[in-house]
Amino acid sequence: MAIKYTAKVIEHFKNPHNIGIIENADACATEGSPACGDEITVYLKIDKATDRIEDVKFQSYGCASNIATGSIITDLAKGKTIDEAEAITWKQAADELGGLPPVKMHCSVLAVDGLRSAIRKYKKEMKGIDYDSTLDVKTVTEELKHVLWPPVGVDIITLKMVKYIGIDQGAVRVEVSVGSDDKFLDPTVNEIIEHVSKIRGVKSVNVENV
Ligand code: FES
Repeated sequence: MAIKYTAKVIEHFKNPHNIGIIENADACATEGSPACGDEITVYLKIDKATDRIEDVKFQSYGCASNIATGSIITDLAKGKTIDEAEAITWKQAADELGGLPPVKMHCSVLAVDGLRSAIRKYKKEMKGIDYDSTLDVKTVTEELKHVLWPPVGVDIITLKMVKYIGIDQGAVRVEVSVGSDDKFLDPTVNEIIEHVSKIRGVKSVNVENV
């Protein structure tokens, strides 16, 4: 079945804003999506006196939704302070585009993760703010808000699919409740593992469908 996009998604896909590379960028980060394996790289030029984003560009190796979201979030981020731009959410980006099909919501998560990761890199290098989070239930919960359930494009925490998070000396156990024969189970389990593995201190991740 063909995926339906809004006119705004198509417009930003066909004529994306802020595509390219910034030579001598103050920060640059590449993020990959566990959901589809695609990547985005975001470059930032920042006014060091005011912490405002003077310029931002991106390169996408993703799909139309990712390119459109990259286009819209770089528009939103330009001229903002790094703190303001870091607060841009994938939901906000999708809303600005007039909505994305549920199975394509993860593409906007990827674009926002790319921007956020570049900002955090800058903060770490220039200001010594270390965002490598500590391992606790709250951090795992926050990370799982980036894992979407494809049929509806909503995160698994909001959908109350996560029933339990347990941590024992770096071993993380996540219990989810998903129909047993659902075709989205395996990709979602893999996505949970990839996301949680990124947290500092995680030694293993075990996901059970209960
Ligand atoms: Fe990979 Fe959209 S399917 S970014």
